[in-house]
Amino acid sequence: MRRVMVAGNWKMNLDRSAAAALAQGIADRAGEVGDVDLVVCPPSVYLDGVARCIEGSKVALGAQNVYHEPDGAFTGEISTRMLVDVGCRYVIVGHSERRHILGETDEDVNRKTHAVLAADLTPIVCVGELLSEREAGQTAAVIRRQVEGSLAGLSADQIAELVVAYEPVWAIGTGKVATPAQASEVHDDLRKLLGERYNATSAGATRILYGGSVKPDNAAELLAQPNIDGALVGGASLKVESFLAIAAAARES
Ligand code: 13P
Repeated sequence: MRRVMVAGNWKMNLDRSAAAALAQGIADRAGEVGDVDLVVCPPSVYLDGVARCIEGSKVALGAQNVYHEPDGAFTGEISTRMLVDVGCRYVIVGHSERRHILGETDEDVNRKTHAVLAADLTPIVCVGELLSEREAGQTAAVIRRQVEGSLAGLSADQIAELVVAYEPVWAIGTGKVATPAQASEVHDDLRKLLGERYNATSAGATRILYGGSVKPDNAAELLAQPNIDGALVGGASLKVESFLAIAAAARES
């Protein structure tokens, strides 16, 4: 049985006091949500402060990015060891903003995914097509290429451990959410693809989140789909109320 997960990707938002207040607000009320894994992913400069706010609660800490090397002369980068040191348990890898704005390739995402798993952290590996790719009927091919490239060389056991997030790029920050049918089609394909490449048991254990304009009023119908195991939330994760409302919808799914 896959545990439902709701993760908040705060992206490059908030300041130190707002990040602490949001983390504290979520931690204080996380008990109300019940059997859902809650994760917050603040900007890296606020990881340490947020870790202190959520300590002792059921909220887990995630990073938005990582570098694949363990240490050394990599100015501006952050290693898995540093993320472990400040209490992270999850790392978002290959977010579309990193792929499309910052030029990350499937090879980069693959190196990061290996590094994250080697550090006993859980990667949340993001995939998703552009609007032009969807309109050209290439969604399935794009997802397959990203999955094959990003997850190359992983074992079936590692596949069972990691989290995949399907985030159609055209739905991110646009208010244009994928319909449950559109999301479901890709989630079903993703699980089938993992089953073909690894095995049914591992593919059945991988959690596949949906991301892209998830809000309290559309979360329930998305999360009711059998292969949607949770949500990766951007804008609506920046307020305690909306984040917890999505988590409550997830619990009931
Ligand atoms: P929005 O929820 O703001 O569309 O962002 C989704 C996302 O990119 C989460 O990683």
